[in-house]
Amino acid sequence: MSLPTSAGGVPVLILKEGSSRTRGKEAQYNNMMAAKVVAETVKSALGPKGMDKMLVDSFGDVTITSDGRTILDEMDIQHPAAKMMVEVAKTQDNEAGDGTTTAVIISGALLSEAEDLINKNVHPTIIIDGYKKASERALKILEKIAISVDLNFQGYLKKAAMTSMASKLVAEHREYLGDLAVKAVLQVAEKDVGKYKVDIDDIKVEKKPGESVRGTKLINGVVLDKEVVHSGMPKRVENAKIVLLDSPLEIEKTEFDAKINIESPEQMDAFLKQEEMMLREMVDKITGTGANVVLCQKGLDDMIQHFLSRKGILALRRIKKSDMEKLSKASGGKIVTNLDDVNPGDLGYASLVEERKIGDDKMTFVEGCKNPRAVTILIRGGTERIVDEAERSLHDALCVVRDIVEEPKVVAGGGAPELEVSKELKKYAGTFPGREQLAIERFAEALETIPITLTENAGLDPIDILSELRARHEKGEIWAGIEVNSGKVQDMTKAGVFEPLAVKKQIIKSATEAASMILKIDDVIASGKMKTPPMPPGGAPGGMPGMGGMGPGGGVY
Ligand SMILES: Nc1ncnc2c1ncn2[C@@H]1O[C@H](COP(=O)(O)OP(=O)(O)O)[C@@H](O)[C@H]1O
Ligand SMILES: [Mg+2]
Repeated sequence: MSLPTSAGGVPVLILKEGSSRTRGKEAQYNNMMAAKVVAETVKSALGPKGMDKMLVDSFGDVTITSDGRTILDEMDIQHPAAKMMVEVAKTQDNEAGDGTTTAVIISGALLSEAEDLINKNVHPTIIIDGYKKASERALKILEKIAISVDLNFQGYLKKAAMTSMASKLVAEHREYLGDLAVKAVLQVAEKDVGKYKVDIDDIKVEKKPGESVRGTKLINGVVLDKEVVHSGMPKRVENAKIVLLDSPLEIEKTEFDAKINIESPEQMDAFLKQEEMMLREMVDKITGTGANVVLCQKGLDDMIQHFLSRKGILALRRIKKSDMEKLSKASGGKIVTNLDDVNPGDLGYASLVEERKIGDDKMTFVEGCKNPRAVTILIRGGTERIVDEAERSLHDALCVVRDIVEEPKVVAGGGAPELEVSKELKKYAGTFPGREQLAIERFAEALETIPITLTENAGLDPIDILSELRARHEKGEIWAGIEVNSGKVQDMTKAGVFEPLAVKKQIIKSATEAASMILKIDDVIASGKMKTPPMPPGGAPGGMPGMGGMGPGGGVY
């Protein structure tokens, strides 16, 4: 690039030495390519027949997953535009909790189509405008075809939970886990002016390797990775009345160094007695409320532990703040800071508090709460990897059920909604003149990558299947999709494959947003060195017409 020069012919440097800058088409192509590479990487993981990826981090730790967000998170991506694709996955995950792979693939497809148009001299601004119109229309079409769900019947909730787990390592247990997910979400859902609100954080997920996935349980209460503090305490308390305390049960140490001169054994004795008295008072305050369990966020003095055990009280200490909040929601107890204020009305209730040995560790179950507003799912499974993947799968399932409870609408899957929207968008494109029409059509084409990818991943022929799908949608079969287990095009509502409308809408939003953001960039100024983006086997997909090569100076970081 030529540098601007001052009047005297001396170059004017505004960037630090070692900075690099690419502009115009070159910058656009580089960014588009990096983003497409990312999309290409996750493609093979889409759908029930998608493959898993084995990710090895710099410590040699292995993760096996087919979860889009996890794959991208673990990949340690450096290229700035590729990083924006990682953001797509994150946004999708945070907003909807499922559909991350789909969002990234559609984003990549939108950029592929855009690249083609740019080669035909369509300006990125026109493409961005067209994509915006198309995405708004797509959202309306999805709303229109969506199926309303009556939350009194849990069939759709369970089927959607099962669909979200169909593509995971733990798919064989999806019916069992799906059931747990539905029960957990419905338990913590709160009615808010005619609508439900669900905070997924009210569902605590604990995991311990051992047993099998079938050993996974929903607990109406909270499971704590803690053991009872004192060996003399009971390990099991029925009809538990619980004090939740967020301050330490200790004699406060003075803030400054103080010396007490004790001159006689009597004085020493009196001093210790005084301390003991104070501790006894604390215990009396607790027993005075009728409590038989103490759950404390801070420390418990040794002597207090001893006194409590003598009174037959079970106590745990150093419980996480987030767990204290869940305990409060589950047991109905109030978190108390000052023991002077505690009264029987503040106590929480659980029909059982018990320390149990789970795997190699001791955990404490606070269970059988009455109508708890927080619950726990304790995941079990043969190995650490299974337990981890079960946790990720369950996360998707919980989010999907939440999505439907909050917005009770679903669509069928298997590429059916993508194709239906694509078909409608092609008609819509016809109402626009010239280049904008092209952009809307390309948006429609990009959506077809989903049924195509599902088909390819199942080892089926995408050309035959796509033409059958298109034909059946033309005939008005809205829910015709590719059922990958049978390998046949069929009505996906009959196949029981359902997904939340919210997930599909968010996919359109996140994918369009990311593609537009990348398309808008025509100048990349980098102040440091960047690493090369990851390449799928076989190099860059799709070829790079018009790009200035990939060698040194070619601008691929
Ligand atoms: N039995 C099935 N036949 C065809 N497609 C299915 C089936 N079950 C799920 N799918 C599809 O798989 C896709 C989701 O795959 P998944 O790997 O979970 O990706 P994402 O990260 O996008 O959720 C959806 O399009 C869904 O409709
Ligand atoms: Mg999914």
